[in-house]
Amino acid sequence: MSERRVEAGPGGPTGGGTAEDGPSAARAPAGPPALAAAPHELALRAVGLVKVYEGGLVEALRGVSLEVRRGERVAITGPSGSGKTTLLHLLGALDRPTAGAVEVFGRDVALERDLDALRGRTLGFVFQLHHLIPNLSLRENVALPAHPWLGRRERLRRAAELLTRVGLGHRIDFLPVKCSGGERQRAAIARALVNEPRLLLADEPTGSVDSETGARLLDLFDELARTDGLTTVTITHAPEVAARADRTIRIVDGRIAP
Ligand SMILES: Nc1ncnc2c1ncn2[C@@H]1O[C@H](COP(=O)(O)OP(=O)(O)O)[C@@H](O)[C@H]1O
Ligand SMILES: [Mg+2]
Repeated sequence: MSERRVEAGPGGPTGGGTAEDGPSAARAPAGPPALAAAPHELALRAVGLVKVYEGGLVEALRGVSLEVRRGERVAITGPSGSGKTTLLHLLGALDRPTAGAVEVFGRDVALERDLDALRGRTLGFVFQLHHLIPNLSLRENVALPAHPWLGRRERLRRAAELLTRVGLGHRIDFLPVKCSGGERQRAAIARALVNEPRLLLADEPTGSVDSETGARLLDLFDELARTDGLTTVTITHAPEVAARADRTIRIVDGRIAP
C-alpha cells in the first residue's frame, strides 16, 4: 500500500502540513505504467491524459502521455485547436483531467491538497493572453504573484530586476495599456519568473513579439536553464523557437503525433 514512495522536492515537505499524512502517502490504486526515466529525474510526467469539454462533445485531449526531464527545454507544436493549451493547463495543474494523471517533480497533482502552494513554489505560467491587470504598473503586475513573505520592497525589487532582464527597464512604471503587445508579453514572462520557478510553462510566449525580441527571450530561458536548471515547456508556432528546444512534441487532434 505504501510501497510507492514519492520524493519530496528539494524544498522538503510543504510547510504547515503534518508529516505522516503527506499528500503522496495514500495512493493505493495501480499507479501509472512505468515509463522510461526514474521519477526523481523528471520535472513532469503525464500519463493517459484525456480532457473532454461540453459534457463529452469536445474531446480536446485523447490520451497524452509524456515525460519531461529536469532542465529539459521542450517545445509543443501543432495546429490550432489541437489541444495544446488544454495540455499545458493540465500540466500546470490549472485544470483537472477527465482521466489520466500528472506528476510535477514526482508529486501527483491530484493528491496535492494545496495546489496554490505547489504552483507558487515550483511553477511559472505564461498565458496565451498575457492577463496583466490594467490598472497596475508593469512592476506591480510582476510583483503581484511574488511570495508575500518576501515583503513589499523585495517583491518590487525583484519585479524591477526581472523587467530589466526582459528588456523593459525603461517601462517598469508604465501601465499595460501604454505598452505594445510585445512589451506586455515580456512583462507576463517576467511575472512568471518572479518566484524563481523550477518549471516554466509558456503558451506562445513569443507570439506577439518581433523575432529579435523573441530571440532575446529565448536567450533568457536558456540562461535560466543553464544557471538555475529551469525546465521549460513552450507552446509555439515559431520554427526558431522549436529549433532551440531539446525536443519537440507535436499535438494533432488531441494526441501526440508520431
Ligand atoms: N473551456 C472550454 N470549453 C469547451 N471547449 C474548449 C474549452 N477549451 C478548449 N476547448 C476546445 O478544445 C479544443 C482544444 O483547444 P485548445 O487546447 O485551446 O487548442 P490549441 O491550444 O491547440 O489551439 C478545441 O476544440 C477548443 O475549442
Ligand atoms: Mg492554444
